[in-house]
Amino acid sequence: MFRKALVIPVALLVTAYIPAFAQSVAATPPMGWNSWNHFAGKVNDADVRAAADALVSTGMRDAGYIYVNIDDTWQGERDASGVLHPNSKFPDMKALADYVHSKGLKIGIYSSPGPQTCAHYAGSYGHEEQDAKTYAEWGMDYLKYDLCSFREIMRKEAPGDPQKAFAMQKAAYEKMHQALVATGRPILYSLCQYGLNDVWTWGTDVGGNAWRTTGDIADNYTSMSRIGFGQAGLSKYAVPGHWNDPDMLEVGNGGMTDDQYRQHMTLWVILAAPLLAGNDLSKMSPATLAILTNKEVIAVNQDPLGKQGDRVSALGMSEIWAKPLSGDAKAVALFNRSDKATPVTLHLSEVGFDGNAKLRDLWQGREVKATGGAYTVTVPAYGAVLLKVSR
Ligand code: GLA
Repeated sequence: MFRKALVIPVALLVTAYIPAFAQSVAATPPMGWNSWNHFAGKVNDADVRAAADALVSTGMRDAGYIYVNIDDTWQGERDASGVLHPNSKFPDMKALADYVHSKGLKIGIYSSPGPQTCAHYAGSYGHEEQDAKTYAEWGMDYLKYDLCSFREIMRKEAPGDPQKAFAMQKAAYEKMHQALVATGRPILYSLCQYGLNDVWTWGTDVGGNAWRTTGDIADNYTSMSRIGFGQAGLSKYAVPGHWNDPDMLEVGNGGMTDDQYRQHMTLWVILAAPLLAGNDLSKMSPATLAILTNKEVIAVNQDPLGKQGDRVSALGMSEIWAKPLSGDAKAVALFNRSDKATPVTLHLSEVGFDGNAKLRDLWQGREVKATGGAYTVTVPAYGAVLLKVSR
């Protein structure tokens, strides 16, 4: 009697176990590095190994950056049985994955539901299960799945029928999700379709652990701030395991000032966005490293409550955003989008606190004081101040 009762629940547990495990890979927003923003189509095996080495030697791994993600242009040809092999830039994917794992890191790869990726390399169309199996055999822990040429399939097969095209797109993402689950390996599934069809409302349904909410970021202030501040209103769609992704970081790539990069990092932290560094980690200034690895700042992004922040108020070129934290605290960011240093005032009541709240400036790493229930600070041009407010 006892035995029989035990056997049934265990069997149920085993069948339910794999998908549940696959979902738990992103309890907090994923952190790591991705090859695209700096290396683009030139990335090779040596660059990826160097990135892994640098994540360890700079302390970034220990700060939480554990994924080493190979983006587009690794793909070679399919063999007679349809198995996809890497091109000559990546002589041995399994050996590369073993190397990355040996450093206490995880490794990611990239594909498309279409026949071709955005850079016109082989996509997974018609080979979804086979490709998922190949990734699992190599030891991949993360897949970025980029719509690219699947849009042409949608245009061809559903001309003038956006509803049908949308259904096709969802089915394509679900198909790869099922293929990943079937491998039995937990693989973080990152959707990349630039925010089409309000993906934040259905990304979870197709197994997405993260979904891009926008087109591609570029290494300039206009692009970064348009994307970052454009995320207002999306906070309710992020939950542990399933995150809005406003694209990878440009910190350290050279197109913005350190204050602008601090604003970029502050926004992504408040947005509970994936933190995927996109710079050349083997050549980083001390300022870049400091922006990427401030422990108290990262803790806001990785807070176990798993809530995305949102805009609280905007006045002229100044904005205040807040993110609920565990322990009944809040992270509050004061942004200056103008080209002149500007005083910004936070009234504690607008974020649900009174004059007795404790305030800590996280970039500076020191306590600060409110007077009369308000805190005023001069924020540098294009800069940000990040506070932790607690009771
Ligand atoms: C798209 C994606 C980028 C990058 C490139 C690679 O543009 O949005 O993030 O992956 O494809 O070709």
